[in-house]
Amino acid sequence: MKGVVLAGGLGTRLYPLTHATNKHLLPIYNKPMVYYPIEALVKAGIEEVMVVVGGPHAGDFISVLKNGKDLGLKHLEYAYQEREGGIADALSICRDFADGENITVFLGDNPTDVDISEEVRSFKEGAHIFVKEVSDPTRFGIAVFDDKNKKKLLKIVEKPKDEKHNLAVAGLYIYDKKVFSYIKKCQPSARNELEITDVNNFYIKAGTMKWSYLTGFWSDTGTFQSLYLANKYWAEKALLEK
Ligand code: G1P
Repeated sequence: MKGVVLAGGLGTRLYPLTHATNKHLLPIYNKPMVYYPIEALVKAGIEEVMVVVGGPHAGDFISVLKNGKDLGLKHLEYAYQEREGGIADALSICRDFADGENITVFLGDNPTDVDISEEVRSFKEGAHIFVKEVSDPTRFGIAVFDDKNKKKLLKIVEKPKDEKHNLAVAGLYIYDKKVFSYIKKCQPSARNELEITDVNNFYIKAGTMKWSYLTGFWSDTGTFQSLYLANKYWAEKALLEK
């Protein structure tokens, strides 16, 4: 299993914080945001990682992550996303790096403390997603389950207009090599991006998608409020552990 961390984008929603650096390098308590997904990958036994960077401050990642040894990585590669083409577009750049192996993909702005060692260890093929309740479903990809068989995942709806369902698909995914052919089948969405939700729906249709509840802390950092909550969580956790 190899790891991918997607850390491109312009971070415009977090202006003025992101005028001078990339969003994924902003602090979450005492570490840059991008450390958290890398640490989660290392905890799950993954030591070969590609970080996809982008935007005007892409070079800053080298100063922060260097060759990844300090974080416990054996091998760290960087790729550059030319345009803001979405998560699936960023992932498509990693095809050569994956080289036919299964991959665990983290969004660089989801500073979670989830332990996915077991899912990574037992993963054979298909895909695996993690879901967690949210109070603001319209900001996420939302998992829709069968009314009768509550465990049967029917589809994922990206940024639903209503709040009928509230299980968000967290920004971490495990994929087999088919992910790259599914990405090729994706069409740009209304926000002109290749959506990871479309990729996940291909797996659901093929009957090869597994899912589990995410236990532990998970938050994105797409708003000032969620960025604050992530900082608060990690600060309190560090102070409690002292
Ligand atoms: C992305 C995904 C969405 C997922 C979310 C998790 O949203 O498209 O399905 O639930 O990450 O953070 P975006 O950050 O692109 O709005």
